[in-house]
Amino acid sequence: MGTRPVIIEGELSLAREIGYMVPAKAVRVEAYCSTANLGAGFDVFALALNKFVDRVQVRTTNTRTITIKARGPFGRELPRDPNKNSAGPPARALLDKSGLNMGIEITLEKNVPPGLGLGSSGATAAACTQAMNNLLQLDLSSDELVQTASIGEAAVSGTAHTDNVGASLLGGFVIAYGKPLRTVSVKPPAKLSVVVVSPKTRPRKNKTSLARSLVPKKIETGNAVLNVGRASAIALGFARGDLDLIGSGMEDAIAEPHRESLVPGYRSVRMIALAAHASGVAISGAGPSIVALVDKTKHDPKKIGRVMVREFSKNNVESTFFVTGPAGAARVIRRE
Ligand code: HSE
Repeated sequence: MGTRPVIIEGELSLAREIGYMVPAKAVRVEAYCSTANLGAGFDVFALALNKFVDRVQVRTTNTRTITIKARGPFGRELPRDPNKNSAGPPARALLDKSGLNMGIEITLEKNVPPGLGLGSSGATAAACTQAMNNLLQLDLSSDELVQTASIGEAAVSGTAHTDNVGASLLGGFVIAYGKPLRTVSVKPPAKLSVVVVSPKTRPRKNKTSLARSLVPKKIETGNAVLNVGRASAIALGFARGDLDLIGSGMEDAIAEPHRESLVPGYRSVRMIALAAHASGVAISGAGPSIVALVDKTKHDPKKIGRVMVREFSKNNVESTFFVTGPAGAARVIRRE
């Protein structure tokens, strides 16, 4: 991006009148929740889910600071400190990149429940990044958007993982990989239903950091080989719209074996769901929710959800489920 002239706040309305490229006053964007990893795709794969949506409005101010307000069902739980909220760092980075001499007021409508493993912080970061991109007319590429949103994840979990923000920004099934980061998104097959089962485990502070600390820093070649093969099957399965192929790859040798203890009963719930004809089952992101992918043209996703809940209860774990499907990309819903 080229260098932009600095426009001081008092000149904005005049600049707008004469058609000069200046930021909008406010932009509102919505972004969906997501499930990351899908088994073998630890930190690389994610699927946007059409269940909960975060809405983020960014508004220019002349304070030169970034402030955060939050409302919605989960707004009260969110930190307002821009360094601790996943919206803050992307907003700061893009404001700095724009070279504009102004402040930003961020208003979050927080609908994605935190702590379930459904990419809650990622949805907020994604919506804020796309809103800032639009507000400041930065014209960022998909790769740049995802990279920028991931710094919001770092503020919350300590690591700038790109999978959840990738799905919330780009929609569908997303592969976010490599250095420098590259992203690919594919529209999932229409027959795909996703059953999400959430066990009522003890709420933990810094849940994602804890789950990430359980993943070994080094892995054995044999496990890397298993995951490369399975992840390839998942990617090709999405490209071909083949749910059996996707499901065949949804087994992880890197993270899940070390995280299972966070989801009591996971192994038996997984087995029972596969026996009930789920195509594939995985821990959703850092958990504790579990996702089962189901071909809804052949099997009843609700029935599979009920079977999974029953199996959790046999393990003395209360749980609830819902059935959803893939969601689209983050989108601007208001610009003024
Ligand atoms: N890939 C990340 C993890 C997602 O599993 O830690 C966290 O939401």
